[in-house]
Amino acid sequence: MRKKIIAGNWKMHGNRAEVRTLITELKQGVTAFPKIEMIVFPSFVFLAEVQALLQNSAIFLGAQNIYPAKSGAFTGEISTEMLVETGCKYVLVGHSERRSILREPLDFIAKKFKAVLQAGMCPVLCVGETQEEREKNMTEKVIDHQLQTVMDFCGLDAFREVIIAYEPVWAIGTGLTATPEQAQQVHQFIRTLFAKQDVELAQNLSLLYGGSVKADNAASLFAMPDVDGALVGGASLIAKDFLAIAKAAEQVSSVLC
Ligand code: 13P
Repeated sequence: MRKKIIAGNWKMHGNRAEVRTLITELKQGVTAFPKIEMIVFPSFVFLAEVQALLQNSAIFLGAQNIYPAKSGAFTGEISTEMLVETGCKYVLVGHSERRSILREPLDFIAKKFKAVLQAGMCPVLCVGETQEEREKNMTEKVIDHQLQTVMDFCGLDAFREVIIAYEPVWAIGTGLTATPEQAQQVHQFIRTLFAKQDVELAQNLSLLYGGSVKADNAASLFAMPDVDGALVGGASLIAKDFLAIAKAAEQVSSVLC
């Protein structure tokens, strides 16, 4: 189901005390925004603690990664079953930091996507072009290829209950944000890609934008018809900022209702 979603990717940030404070503040603040869905993606080591803190709150828990096998000799990796047991509902798949720093190939990302679905969780599939690819006018081609690889492996039906995040690599952690028009153009491209095969599926797809989303640019991004929320990095570590982004999404939802 298409909904307004504000997700916080905490990456490799935070210590126990900071995590406790952040969750306590978010839990209180989010009650003012009943129309949006909030998700947090803490580091693995804090998942159980965050899950306990999130009891009786409307905030959902997600993990930043998985290994696509049920169990086995995979030193240092985390299975979907472990994440389900820890209370995770969402898993990030294909984040550009994992694609570039850890050299995750697209076929491996497709396997992760499938494993997350098979475990009954929701993958948040990240796609996006580099600066160089944008300058060469390759944005749509790159995103088409990223999505197509997953679709070929998992099938179109696999996309019925998932989230896709458009995260232009050049906008991540750089302070550069795609303009609302640039974001809309790519989101519309993604929705149209799916609509060619299944209009209903495309209409129900939640498409998030990620890349230097802040309190002061969120409202203009959320005003775009195909931007259904945000996957936020840096600004999700500060409760006041993340809640301001949530407020912007709530206000757009109120106008739409
Ligand atoms: P920033 O919001 O820090 O640019 O990070 C975006 C991101 O990578 C979210 O997954």
